Amino acid sequence: MAKKIVLPDFPMSRLRRLRSNQILREMISETGLNVTDFIYPLFVSEGMKSKKEINSMPGIFQHSVESAVKECESALNLGVKAVILFGIPAHKDEKGSEAFNKNGIIQKTVREIKKNVPEIIVITDVCLCEYTSHGHCGILKEGIVDNDITLEYLVKEAVSHAEAGADIIAPSDMMDGRIKAIRIGLDKANFSGIPVMAYSAKYSSSFYGPFREAAESAPQFGDRKTYQMDYRNSDEALREVYLDIKEGADIIMVKPALSYLDIICKVKQSFNIPVAAYNVSGEYSMIKSAAAAGWIDGEKAMMEILYSIKRAGADMIITYFALEAAKVLKNSTV
Ligand code: PBG
Repeated sequence: MAKKIVLPDFPMSRLRRLRSNQILREMISETGLNVTDFIYPLFVSEGMKSKKEINSMPGIFQHSVESAVKECESALNLGVKAVILFGIPAHKDEKGSEAFNKNGIIQKTVREIKKNVPEIIVITDVCLCEYTSHGHCGILKEGIVDNDITLEYLVKEAVSHAEAGADIIAPSDMMDGRIKAIRIGLDKANFSGIPVMAYSAKYSSSFYGPFREAAESAPQFGDRKTYQMDYRNSDEALREVYLDIKEGADIIMVKPALSYLDIICKVKQSFNIPVAAYNVSGEYSMIKSAAAAGWIDGEKAMMEILYSIKRAGADMIITYFALEAAKVLKNSTV
């Protein structure tokens, strides 16, 4: 931590001195943003022949397996070296069986990506909401998501992703004890080398709206407040993170990012573990729609947001802007 200093008064202190030209500003800039900080989310849909743009997320698509592979090639060409996959199965049921089907959409996609673009890091989102007919993130018992039964299904899903070749497993369901259960499950299946990226502080947020259209995963009744966090709380986020670290998480995540920069900052100051932040769908759509209306400069707003997430303390950012921001970083001359 920097020592507190007492600045001399004006006119001795003039903070504008170091802002006077671009090179100086570069020299004293405190926050770096690198293309290797980005993780690019991809939606892969089983019924899809080619790709289809998502209405509320211009520039983002539901992919077929083939177009997902192509998108990974484009990402890699721009220097983006990690993707996170979300699957949309052709059939949903009460237990989300397609989530752990050896030939399910994610399992197929992982195999194809690893075959064709082996250098890219493939992270898989482990959750049941895209696979269950009721759209909740777990198994229901008398209309309530049952924690401990859900764990067994999450473990099956995580192991089947690892068997398909996933490099990192990212559980986003928010059940208690899932990190421990998944860690033990992976180790038993001989995947002790596969890291777990835990969606630890995941808030119940209206900013997931466009994602739910993209992943066709909106809950068919009620909401996710019995398992996702209440946005009024931050101590609770630290407890979530602490427990996930104790259970074996290798990377922890704060989600969403923008209304939660304080949480990213507190987590980074409290624990010495890599922190990911998820710049979620609603945060993307807001920028895109305001830019399309001519109300803001979309590219500049995008960069400001990504830097702010880094400044808050994130080591990596899951963002739909990944490819666009990579192009900006590539072309920036200074
Ligand atoms: C699945 C999941 C969600 C997101 C990531 N994983 C949706 C949800 O919890 O409803 C949201 C990501 C985004 O909005 O970009 N549980």
